[in-house]
Amino acid sequence: MTVHFIGAGPGAPDLLTLRGRDLIAACPVCLYAGSLVPEAILAHCPPGARIVNTAPLDLDAIIAECRVAHDAGLDVARLHSGDLSVWSAMGEQLRRLKAEGIPVTVTPGVPSFAAAAAALGAELTLPGLAQSVVLTRTPGRASSMPEAESLANFAATGATLAIHLSIHSLDRVVADLTPFHGADCPVAVVYRASWPDQRILRGTLSTIAAMLPEDIKRTALILVGPALGAEGFAESCLYAPDYDRRFRPSRAEGGRNGD
Ligand SMILES: C[S@@+](CC[C@H](N)C(=O)[O-])C[C@H]1O[C@@H](n2cnc3c(N)ncnc32)[C@H](O)[C@@H]1O
Repeated sequence: MTVHFIGAGPGAPDLLTLRGRDLIAACPVCLYAGSLVPEAILAHCPPGARIVNTAPLDLDAIIAECRVAHDAGLDVARLHSGDLSVWSAMGEQLRRLKAEGIPVTVTPGVPSFAAAAAALGAELTLPGLAQSVVLTRTPGRASSMPEAESLANFAATGATLAIHLSIHSLDRVVADLTPFHGADCPVAVVYRASWPDQRILRGTLSTIAAMLPEDIKRTALILVGPALGAEGFAESCLYAPDYDRRFRPSRAEGGRNGD
């Protein structure tokens, strides 16, 4: 018996991986984080599966579900939104399950920042403008931030920021970032990326707060940085004709291997 942790993706049911889909179909028990995992993904569960929304459960109750399945020899599909490597609460579940000797596997999913970038049609790392993406958040009721991980510190690097779990604090985000990026820095808010009701707002640090509709209070990403919406960036070397790389030897040299 195994508990399979599966990243369920950002929302669109067809952004689930094939591996994730097949594992869900093979597991007679499915525990899913109901606040963000779409119901349509549960359609992959086999007939008669035990399907439990863990949103109202605490950690003890979730582990108890796994233990009962383990004792009955039943595999469990454990679904969290997006990818499991960020803000999934997988770490604490893995620790408990390992302590109980219950085997686990981990299957990645499409993270929401990637779905948001796709919705924008944007590359977040553009030559000369930004070569790093910082996945971060602001403090919440249940989570404080380590002192050095302030928006100000990240902003000072000029990296593209993908700010999660913070749309309710947009004013604060703008106030923290404006001294570093300037009022004209591009900002995008992507609400429910890849869901049918996805919405996109594009503005600048000086305009975005006034653009935010009243009803967008959660499940949105704030993307900030000079790379967003930039047009005048340099082309990368990757596809430059005179750039010599292993699979496309330089034309200028007639090819590294003479071909
Ligand atoms: C608990 S975190 C989960 C993150 C998830 N593990 C991931 O890989 O993206 C929830 C936050 O992720 C972001 N998020 C999740 N799904 C989203 C989506 N479809 N569109 C925009 N933001 C999303 C929002 O900032 C939301 O507050």
